[in-house]
Amino acid sequence: MVRGIHHLGIAVNSIEDALSVYRDALGFEVEHSEQMDDRGLKLAMLRAGDGEVELLEPTDPASTVGRFVQKRGEGIHHVALQVKNIDKVLGDLKETGIRLIDEEARPGAGGTRVAFLHPKTAHGVLIELVEE
Ligand code: CO
Repeated sequence: MVRGIHHLGIAVNSIEDALSVYRDALGFEVEHSEQMDDRGLKLAMLRAGDGEVELLEPTDPASTVGRFVQKRGEGIHHVALQVKNIDKVLGDLKETGIRLIDEEARPGAGGTRVAFLHPKTAHGVLIELVEE
């Protein structure tokens, strides 16, 4: 069902500041940057080898990531898992009683289709499914 870990989402106060660590010190390369006004955030996808991290900077303090940073500070926000057919996976998960934040896939970073599972259902971890 899951093909692997797609990326780790990391909430930061400033992508620019975080790049000095993730890009300049650790050697991740920026693959893609984007502003998502509907989610109140800016993001940067960074890659090193097979590993990807997604830096998330809130542009709206009332957004999900904005509230996360205010409440818990910077840190790992979600784990994204790669799936092949997100519609089928969502249907199967619903049948097994898994709590979903998104019943239907929606547009994610870089033109992908994504959906979030409720953290309560995944032992405290916010899980994002990415179709790719
Ligand atoms: Co993500």
